[in-house]
Amino acid sequence: MALWETYFTPTSLEEALRLLAEHGPRARVIAGGSDLLIELERGVRQAAVLIDVSRVAGLDGIALDGETLRLGPLVTHNRLVASGTVAGRAFPLAQAAWTVGGPAIRNRGTLGGNLITASPANDTITPLWALGATVTLRSVRGERTLSFPDFYQGVRRVDMAADEMLVEVRAPALTPDERGVFVKLGLRRALAISLVNAAVVLRFSGQRVAQARIALGSVAPTIVRACEAEGVLVGAVLDPEVIERVADLAAQAAAPINDLRAGADYRRRMVAVLVRRALTALAEGREREGFPAQPPLLWGRGDGRPPRLAGRTARHTAEGDEPIECTVNGENRVVRGANGKSLLHMLRDDLGLTGTKEGCGEGECGACTVWLDGMAVLACLVPAPRAHGASIVTIEGLALTPTPLTPLPLSRPRLGLRGHRGAARNFGDRRPHLRLHPGDDGPDLPRRPPQRHGQLALPRGPLPRPSGGEAPGGPGPAADRPPHGGADRARPRRQAGAAAPPAVSGAGRGVRPRC
Ligand SMILES: Cc1cc2nc3c(=O)[nH]c(=O)nc-3n(C[C@H](O)[C@H](O)[C@H](O)COP(=O)(O)OP(=O)(O)OC[C@H]3O[C@@H](n4cnc5c(N)ncnc54)[C@H](O)[C@@H]3O)c2cc1C
Ligand code: FES
Repeated sequence: MALWETYFTPTSLEEALRLLAEHGPRARVIAGGSDLLIELERGVRQAAVLIDVSRVAGLDGIALDGETLRLGPLVTHNRLVASGTVAGRAFPLAQAAWTVGGPAIRNRGTLGGNLITASPANDTITPLWALGATVTLRSVRGERTLSFPDFYQGVRRVDMAADEMLVEVRAPALTPDERGVFVKLGLRRALAISLVNAAVVLRFSGQRVAQARIALGSVAPTIVRACEAEGVLVGAVLDPEVIERVADLAAQAAAPINDLRAGADYRRRMVAVLVRRALTALAEGREREGFPAQPPLLWGRGDGRPPRLAGRTARHTAEGDEPIECTVNGENRVVRGANGKSLLHMLRDDLGLTGTKEGCGEGECGACTVWLDGMAVLACLVPAPRAHGASIVTIEGLALTPTPLTPLPLSRPRLGLRGHRGAARNFGDRRPHLRLHPGDDGPDLPRRPPQRHGQLALPRGPLPRPSGGEAPGGPGPAADRPPHGGADRARPRRQAGAAAPPAVSGAGRGVRPRC
């Protein structure tokens, strides 16, 4: 049973907005799909119509406009990690992106999707909140810009109308006298969402703190600022006594609850630990320690951006037989009857490429990894219609080539859709650019001195074990069950358009002070 009825692939922002206006609340934008597909399957969201914007031009920029960092919603986590601009002028955001999932998740998961899903555990929200970012929403009716405290209304709830789309995120870039850090605690060191996270941004005047912003994630229905703790920091020198006091005050700003992954008391104590470590790192100038100089991106020789499309909007109906035209392992293929499937099932069931395996089915195990438009992605989290106009290389394609781990050169699928000139270099050229490199020199890759690998973003040293348990009233705000992993994987798939259970709402249980 398909999770959607109709899948549109628009080729311009205007067309995407027109489709959103036409289909209203039945429609949902899909970018990387790494949250939405799991949410649809679990009934957390409802959408009969998916509008795939992942190849719309003009929505994936990373630019410094004066002292403002401007980010398109389609910027992926890996591109945030690899961006010298982001690492230089919004370092806590680069750190947060580095902690999201694994490389194949970071190649598909976008900043916009992370922000709109609005889980208080989603990692990029916290640093952007601390940086004072805004979101710009657009619809056929016009455009508006909101601060984060105005945009976020509760667990998985944002102030965005059904016909609106996120088109830009802006944040004041860090100045030479400002430094920041993001720290995260998960239940393991990779592929783990935050039990607690924190972002600290300080402006210094000599040795003293002139301005402080501390944002805490996964401890309330939305991100919260630790206002009292910030007040103590202003005018102070970052000595151990001040750090201890600020860490304790920050813990008091948290309003966590018990859930399956951790107890409220544990989370509150971990806030103090994380804030102490963040401030200590800033005091000692160690906040960049552990951020990789050569992160594994799995982009081959590309730049982490899929080819942009031009031409007519493609429409695939789950029950229809509109063709998915793509290149698989160097051959043009036309697949009918797979419009309601995942790419994983299209490859296995319709093309007989059973080297692509199904393990977890929800982005955790990597058994379904393929190359999509030159990047490693997880086929279980890619809708099959996303393959229309795309190039895919499976394990069978890797096996056919003389060079180990070098997939076949891509050829251009014959389609009504066509790539933008210059951007569609994955089609039609014969460069074997999908070599499996641990990292590459994309144009935006920061040039950093080699550093020790590891994650500052994960607290070091022994931590008390979580003492979680389901709260009597069931999961509440901080419980905010992750859309990935966790105990409810076995839930039955829902059909497109079927009534969703009431949304988990934690609004009202937490405090949202504005400092
Ligand atoms: C195994 C696994 C591990 C993960 N680990 C982490 C983690 O450690 N930390 C973390 O923060 N996240 C994690 N995630 C979550 C996920 O990868 C991110 O939230 C991702 O950034 C979502 O982006 P997307 O492009 O995939 O969004 P999608 O799934 O495409 O969309 C998500 C939501 O945003 C909406 N949307 C997307 N773009 C727009 C737009 N431009 N305008 C309007 N609405 C839009 C969609 O309608 C949908 O409601 C993990 C996911 C998986 C599967
Ligand atoms: S990650 Fe796709 S099947 Fe496990």
